[in-house]
Amino acid sequence: MNDNSSFPASMRDETGLLIEQFEGALRSALEGMDQRLALPPGLDDALASLDEPLPEQGCGIGPALERLVELNLTADSNTGGPRCFHFVIGGSTPAAYGADLLATAFEKLTYTWVTSPLGVELETLSLRWLRELFGLPMEWPGVMVTGGTMANLVGMATGRQWWAEQLGADIYETGMNGLPPMPVITSGYVHASMRKVLGLLGVGVNQLDIHARDARGRLDLESYTAALERLDGKPAVVVVNAGEVNAGDFDPCEEMIDIARRHNTWVHVDGAFGLFARLSPRTEHLVRGIERADSAAVDGHKWLNVPYDSGFAFVRDHDLLAKAFRYSADYLPPADDPRPTPGAIGPESSRRARSFAVWATLKAYGREGHRKIVEHCLDNAAYLAQLVEAAPELELMAEVPLNIVAFRYNPGGMSDEELDVFNKRLGEAVLADGRFLVGTSRLGPRTIFRPAFSNWRTRREDLDEFAQVVTDLGQAQPKEVAR
Ligand SMILES: Cc1ncc(COP(=O)(O)O)c(C=O)c1O
Repeated sequence: MNDNSSFPASMRDETGLLIEQFEGALRSALEGMDQRLALPPGLDDALASLDEPLPEQGCGIGPALERLVELNLTADSNTGGPRCFHFVIGGSTPAAYGADLLATAFEKLTYTWVTSPLGVELETLSLRWLRELFGLPMEWPGVMVTGGTMANLVGMATGRQWWAEQLGADIYETGMNGLPPMPVITSGYVHASMRKVLGLLGVGVNQLDIHARDARGRLDLESYTAALERLDGKPAVVVVNAGEVNAGDFDPCEEMIDIARRHNTWVHVDGAFGLFARLSPRTEHLVRGIERADSAAVDGHKWLNVPYDSGFAFVRDHDLLAKAFRYSADYLPPADDPRPTPGAIGPESSRRARSFAVWATLKAYGREGHRKIVEHCLDNAAYLAQLVEAAPELELMAEVPLNIVAFRYNPGGMSDEELDVFNKRLGEAVLADGRFLVGTSRLGPRTIFRPAFSNWRTRREDLDEFAQVVTDLGQAQPKEVAR
């Protein structure tokens, strides 16, 4: 961009260049996805080269976009690729990927019906399809959000609205003023995002009433039941953890919800990835009973394999949801507008069209395609568990009910404490190696690797290579560890 006199009108002339450049950029992104390293070595230098003062005269679209492509290839992790098992990260189906690009291409804004009739209608329809997919009651309203954390926030904010109403207050108006602490009853499987949500909502993390029977956090059913009985009719919120992150285990959803329903409770299910258990006859028993909860949180960008960011909140009661997220002004649509305003039933007002990708993947592959993606990931987890069991230096640390394999490197002759230190270091060595993106965590007191599978791209050969890389790097690490 050298000639400033015609700017910004000259930007129109960049359209052709943009289209031309984009084909190459897409090829780089997609065609290299299977081969690119999970975390390229030397990326620190590439990132350091970014630092420069604000350009006075821009370099123009060509060099700017070229630079961004180059940086993606040399200075960033390949989380969409087949060898990323860190956190719980999904890939993108081609249909979802394409639709998400179209949401940007057509510059969608789904605050309310009039800003994108198509985006809002696709959101309504996709949420209906998702309710069918997850076996949630068809009358539950829902809203698309950025991910599991925000979906948990929607469920818990609505639960908090309900809880205060039980005490005769409208918390949206009055805040927590004059109200007692809100009890939040759950197991030790509660996810970190729930703590963040409780902090944000002014409930306070200290209100978490955790009933765990062991160091892993498994629900102590007796103590949970007794806590509900002690409420003696006072309202409380119960959080059911449908899928925990260290070994993919579940709270006993059906039993927990059965018991909660005998008391004055709002029941929220955190099913960020675990709700996908519903898609396969092999795992659907793990989430039986969730339809009798009051709200549920699910991620799109994990196991639905749509691009970041994407999550869904489902809530039993539309009025409560709308009360919790009231948003109006003279220039905004009225609350009784028959046309939907998703921006007034969720935390974000302006929002992108996440519905494009969700609709497209469900339309392109249907229930059957998504069941196959889930089962492909279940098979990957089961296969890695077999490899671990067959390898003399690897030790499976928990059963594998879903898509996460908790294991550690254990060559023998080391105490548990030494193995904890060793595996933490080995985890860092595996990341530094760059071929795999994977994390360590703790299962009870023990340090473990916890590869999680939710990307359709991962193949058996990736798992063979992963088990080999952990073994090779484990053998190469010094065995003397500081206690
Ligand atoms: C059980 C559970 N809940 C909530 C979240 C938070 O989801 P997000 O990172 O999409 O906000 C996660 C993320 O891993 C999760 O596993």
